[in-house]
Amino acid sequence: MNGDQLTRADAPAAVVAGVGGHVPSGVLTNDDLSARLDTTDDWIRSRTGIARRRVAPRGTATSDLAVAAGRRALRSAGSPTVDAVLVATMTPDHQAPATAPEVAARLGLGDVAAFDVGAMCSGFLYGLGVASGLIAGRVAGRVLLIGAEVLTTVVDPEDRTVAALLADGAGAVVLRAGTPDEPGAVGRVVLGSDGTRGELLKIPGGGSRERQSGHPPTPGSAYFRMRGREVFRQAVERMSDASRAALEAAGWKSGDVDRLAAHQANARILAALGTELDIPAERQLSNIAGTGNTAAASVPLLLADSARDGELRPGHRLLLTAFGGGLTWGATTLVWPDVVPGH
Ligand code: COA
Repeated sequence: MNGDQLTRADAPAAVVAGVGGHVPSGVLTNDDLSARLDTTDDWIRSRTGIARRRVAPRGTATSDLAVAAGRRALRSAGSPTVDAVLVATMTPDHQAPATAPEVAARLGLGDVAAFDVGAMCSGFLYGLGVASGLIAGRVAGRVLLIGAEVLTTVVDPEDRTVAALLADGAGAVVLRAGTPDEPGAVGRVVLGSDGTRGELLKIPGGGSRERQSGHPPTPGSAYFRMRGREVFRQAVERMSDASRAALEAAGWKSGDVDRLAAHQANARILAALGTELDIPAERQLSNIAGTGNTAAASVPLLLADSARDGELRPGHRLLLTAFGGGLTWGATTLVWPDVVPGH
């Protein structure tokens, strides 16, 4: 966990200055899935809370969604200038180079620092940690942090469980240097990992391990694989623990939290997390029913959607948490600032 010794009292804090989300127009309902897989609307709704999900049309890559969300966040922040662009994604346009430099170029941001953050569904929380560090270390004064995914490109069309969960989308925030006590200031970002459980959520192929195996790629090795039950248990435990640590760092009790913005993995995980943290459903933000699980895009898209819908309002004390493959997890706190999502 992050040590106190790393905190410099006079270091600038990362402060949320803008937010934006973008989902592709394609809609895939549970009935659409049931038409080609052995599943039902009732099974998917009751096990995951998902009714429909957004899917990118053929030809649309992660950078396309990232640019759209990034543009909205920059508009929301009222300034087209940043010093760094971070793209959190597990579905980059290419294995190399990173997606962020292309996104920065297409947004007309000039020669800024740009790189990807790879922490699967925890990518946005990891990105907040990295952006806070860049700002605290005065490497950057303003950072555009985007979570973007075209997860449908890694769904095995025969895998009814994964097909029910994963979806496409993007969300973004602009962070600027400010003070720790102002609205929007990101609190201590608590991050962790457990590489001994990497098998639970994985895209096994496409990397040096497979290429060095001496064998041709295994069919389907580029698809996302998941051990659902164990993932469920780990997700609840790790997000609960990280959330408690972030609350403690902020000096908040769970009763102080006005809104919980947790990674939209599965409605039952969110319900179990709410029980663990004693944060009832009416204080939890959720868009999973219509948006599905969008991995690194999930939390910023949730913030954008909730701010647009008035579920998240200026002054709300917000707890953010996510869990993903690696395993990886993270949590942090902030008071929601007076920002209007860009469109
Ligand atoms: N439709 C119908 N049946 C399905 C199905 C689907 N889409 N997917 C799985 N099943 C079946 C299974 O094959 C199994 O059948 P069996 O009992 O004949 O073997 C049965 O449903 C129960 O499967 P199980 O995996 O035990 O169900 P579950 O209650 O654990 O729910 C998940 C499955 C995936 C919804 C659940 O484990 C989960 O949400 N895990 C976390 C996933 C997640 O959030 N991943 C992303 C994390 S970032």
